[in-house]
Amino acid sequence: VTISQRNNMRLDKFLVENGLGSRSQVKEVLKKGLVLVNGREEKSPKTQINEMADEVVVSGQKLTYEKFVYYLLNKPKGYISATEDERHKTVLNLLDETARQKEVFPVGRLDIDTHGLLLLTNNGKLAHAMLSPKKHVEKIYRAQVVGLMNQSDVERFARGIELKDFTCQPAQLKIVELDEEKETSLVEITLAEGKFHQVKRMVAACGKEVTDLQRLTMGPLQLDPALALGEWRRLTTDELERLTIFKVEL
Ligand code: URA
Repeated sequence: VTISQRNNMRLDKFLVENGLGSRSQVKEVLKKGLVLVNGREEKSPKTQINEMADEVVVSGQKLTYEKFVYYLLNKPKGYISATEDERHKTVLNLLDETARQKEVFPVGRLDIDTHGLLLLTNNGKLAHAMLSPKKHVEKIYRAQVVGLMNQSDVERFARGIELKDFTCQPAQLKIVELDEEKETSLVEITLAEGKFHQVKRMVAACGKEVTDLQRLTMGPLQLDPALALGEWRRLTTDELERLTIFKVEL
């Protein structure tokens, strides 16, 4: 498809995506003659517009076209970090219609049973930069572990844990809390890479087991404590500002 085809859409859909209300509310707004497309009053919800090229004004306010959108999600367990799947619910199911329309995808993956911070965007260059091993983007995870993690584990993490198929880069293991009675640990792990099941495998290499895994940060982004599991919000201008370190168009 050409760019212009891809950005053609119904006027009512465009207005819904811009937060003007539900489809039926938008229909009322149109009926009242409050919507101008390129200076001309449009009353039909079915009017086709090009969301990139056409100027849409509602009650005197110009709506702006958003090329890129950014979603900060507190991913719950039970969802996979993909856009489509035959068997499982995906993180896209948790977002809104705009996200699907704009073809947002997760920046990296969390396991189905991992929860916490997940960034989703349709900005491919940003995703590429944030996932590039060369950029060494740090991620902090909090893990509940069966077994008591100790100083020798801390040192192994710092040296670089050897797994069957590769050696991990040096990583930070911070012991937050030990329960000697239950023989469990709460730890925070800081990694600058992101191999398949990496945290679980690093902990397993120390003879212990991750029973709960949460991502707290990714580069300059932090999990927002105001977001319950399954909730999301768009990135703030402040957070977008922090992503300028990746030197891509935002
Ligand atoms: N490491 C894991 O083992 N799982 C994740 O989901 C993320 C990091």
